[in-house]
Amino acid sequence: MNQPFNTALYLQQIEEAVQSIRSLTNQQVDTGIILGTGLGGLVKEIRVEREIPYDQIRNFPLSTVESHAGKLIFGHLNGKSVVAMQGRFHYYEGYPMQQITFPVRVLFELGVRTLIISNAAGGMNPQFVKGDIMLMTDHINLIGDNPLIGPNLDKYGPRFPDMSEAYARELITLAERIALEHQIPLRKGVYIAVAGPNMETAAEYRMLRAMGGDVVGMSTVPENIVAVHMGMRVLGISVVTDECFPDALKPVSLEEVIAVASAAEPKLTRLMKEVIKHL
Ligand code: HPA
Repeated sequence: MNQPFNTALYLQQIEEAVQSIRSLTNQQVDTGIILGTGLGGLVKEIRVEREIPYDQIRNFPLSTVESHAGKLIFGHLNGKSVVAMQGRFHYYEGYPMQQITFPVRVLFELGVRTLIISNAAGGMNPQFVKGDIMLMTDHINLIGDNPLIGPNLDKYGPRFPDMSEAYARELITLAERIALEHQIPLRKGVYIAVAGPNMETAAEYRMLRAMGGDVVGMSTVPENIVAVHMGMRVLGISVVTDECFPDALKPVSLEEVIAVASAAEPKLTRLMKEVIKHL
């Protein structure tokens, strides 16, 4: 990767991906959904029009994490036309940032202007417990990389995008109202993104908490940055899958993370369904 980033090639790859999708469906979509670890259940609620495995989309990366099946799902949810990404890409898998966020550029080209992103995250706020769901009000990028590094894609957005509203306030307000109406307990807080793949040490959790994080995870922030670059509205929702209290830290496994995410999932699905209905 010592060569400069090839902007023309990247734009062409996006175009080719869009064309291969458009040869399989011409459904118009303006809402995109990225489903996090153990959080694919929303898919069952979608009236599916077309499923497109990532390996049928030119230039699309392929998931390497087993818990993430890789496909785009076009369909209708609560009367709204949506496209869901089942399976996302993480920095710890070895993908460059531009590959991780490639699908978000493609979603934009398909018409998506509102993006809902879910993730599994470790809870550092001592008031949080396993299974809680949290609206992301903001984030801190500690991945140590950024998808916008390299020549700016002027076609999509500015060189120095504003991040004062990385997560759309109107969507946060909407989600809070819906949670209240449906009596779904909801937290709000700041997500810190790290590269992973290891979980953090107790000292790291202590530092991340002191920095202002409520939860920590290994995704979402790259996609958010690229979405905001293009002017999309983003709603971010975390499911707290483990408790990261540095003075009482217990071992945690991927199996446990997935089990807790799956248990909390119906709550998240209900919230997302209602939010989408009111977009
Ligand atoms: N740390 C980082 N990522 C995570 C965690 C965690 O504790 N839990 C789920 N994803």
